[in-house]
Amino acid sequence: MEHQTALEHPIFKTIQQSAKKLDVQAFVIGGYVRDFLLQRGNAKDIDIVCVGSGIALAKEVAARLPGKQEVKFFKNFGTAMLHHQGIELEFVGARKESYDRNSRKPIVEDGSLEDDQNRRDFTINAMAFSLNPDSFGKLIDPFNGMHDLEQKTIRTPLAPGITYSDDPLRMMRAIRFATQLDFTIEKDSLQAITDHNHRIKIISKERIVDEVHKILASKKPSKGFALLYKTGLLPMIFPELDALRGIDEIDGQTHKDNFWHTLEVVDNIAQTTDNLWLRWAALLHDIGKAPTKRFDKKNGWTFHAHEFVGSKMVYKLFKRLKMPLNDKMKFVQKMVLMSSRPVILSEDHVTDSAVRRLVFDAGDFVEDLMTLCEADITTKNPKKQRRYLKNFKEVRRKIVEVEERDRIRNFQPPVSGEEIMKTFDLKPSREIGIIKEAIKEAILAGEIPNEYAAAKDFMLRQGIKIGLTPVSQ
Ligand code: CTP
Repeated sequence: MEHQTALEHPIFKTIQQSAKKLDVQAFVIGGYVRDFLLQRGNAKDIDIVCVGSGIALAKEVAARLPGKQEVKFFKNFGTAMLHHQGIELEFVGARKESYDRNSRKPIVEDGSLEDDQNRRDFTINAMAFSLNPDSFGKLIDPFNGMHDLEQKTIRTPLAPGITYSDDPLRMMRAIRFATQLDFTIEKDSLQAITDHNHRIKIISKERIVDEVHKILASKKPSKGFALLYKTGLLPMIFPELDALRGIDEIDGQTHKDNFWHTLEVVDNIAQTTDNLWLRWAALLHDIGKAPTKRFDKKNGWTFHAHEFVGSKMVYKLFKRLKMPLNDKMKFVQKMVLMSSRPVILSEDHVTDSAVRRLVFDAGDFVEDLMTLCEADITTKNPKKQRRYLKNFKEVRRKIVEVEERDRIRNFQPPVSGEEIMKTFDLKPSREIGIIKEAIKEAILAGEIPNEYAAAKDFMLRQGIKIGLTPVSQ
C-alpha cells in the first residue's frame, strides 16, 4: 500500500534526497506512522530510521534546510535531533539491540530495518513508510501492525517476555496506549507485564510519571488505573491508591470501595475538564481515607479528617515520584484539603456567609473545587444524584452572586494595618492583627459589607472594645 499523503510535507523530500546522496535507505517509523493510519491528526514528532548512520543523515538534512540548523547529537545512542517548522525530527541508524538486565541502556549494533523493527515495543509502533525513491510511501509492516490497529490490539513484535524485559518502561507504555487509544492489551502481553511487574523498579520515576500524565489526560483514565491494578503495578507506583481497595464489613455495616469510587470520579472529571492537575486532584482526593478509616458502634465507618491527612500525603507522594513540589502540587493539596467543603455546604440550606467563607478559602480555585465535587457524585441512585447536582448548582449560583456583591475572591483588607496604627497611635503590635481579623470575620459573616466606610467604622468600635483610644483627628 502506498501512503504518499502521509509524506506530503516537503521535509520528507529533503530526507529522501539526503538519503540518496549518502546512498542509505531511510524510513519514517513509529508514532508518526501509527498516528497517521489512525488519523489522529498531524504528529509533531517524526522518527526517521536509516540503514547507516543516523547522525550523518541528520547533518545532510540540516545542510539542505534553509537557515542555520542546530542539530543535537547523542553519540552514545547514535541518534541526532533537529527542529524544523515546529516539527521535532529524530534520526537513528537501524540497529539490533540487546539490553542490560539492570538498566534500560541498550547494547547497540548496526542492523537492518527488520532488526530495528523487531526491537520496537508494539506492532502498531513498528510500522514504517519508505522514503526511498523506488518505494516512496510504501508501508513496511512485518508484524501486521495494520491488523492490530484495526482490531485495536496492543501486541509486541517478539515474544512479550523479551520485549518487556528489554525495556520495562514498555509495561507502562502498553497500559498508556491501551488507555489513550482505547485498545486491548493482548492476553500474553498482559500476562508478561504481570510476570515482570517488579522490574518497574529500574525505571526512573520521571518516566513513569510521564506515562501516568498521559493516562490521566485520556478520555477514560480509569482504564489505565484498572490495568495497573490488574497487572500488579499499582502497589509499586501508587501504594496509597492500592490501600483504598476493598470493602470492610463490621456488624453488617460496609463502606464503599474507595479505589473504584476514585476511578469513577476521575472518569467523571475527565468529561468536564482538561486541567491535568485537577485530574490529579480527583485521583488523590480520597487517599487520606485508608489511614483514617475507623469503625465504632455509634458512628459506623468514619474517615475523620481524611482531607487533611490526604493533603499531607499528596506532598509525600509527589516527592516520592520526583514530581515538582511547586504551585501545582499546592493546588492539588488545596483541592484535596477542601474536597468536602462544598459537600457539607450543599447538604444544608446554602447561606451567604458559608459561601463567602468557601470563596475566601478557595480563592481563584473555587470553580475547580466545584468541578471536583460534582465529579465526586458517584451515587447510582438517580434521585439522589439529581438532588446533589441541583444543590451544587445552587452553590455555584450563590458563589457568583456573593462574589459580585462582596468581592471576596482575592480578599484585600478594606482597612490597612497602617491605618489602624495611625487611628490608635499604635506601634506594630498584636492588636493590629486582632482588629484586622475581626474586620475580616465581620465581612465573611455578613455583619458588615466589604467596603471601606463600614470597615473603618467597625474598626473604631472594635478598637475601643479592646481598650484602645482613637487619637483625635
Ligand atoms: N519505542 C520503543 N520502546 C520504547 C519507546 C519507544 O520501542 N520504550 C519506539 C516505538 O517504535 C515508538 C518510537 O520508538 O513508536 C518512538 O517513541 P516515542 O516518541 O516515545 O513514542 P511514540 O510512539 O511516538 O508515541 P507518543 O508520541 O504518543 O509517545
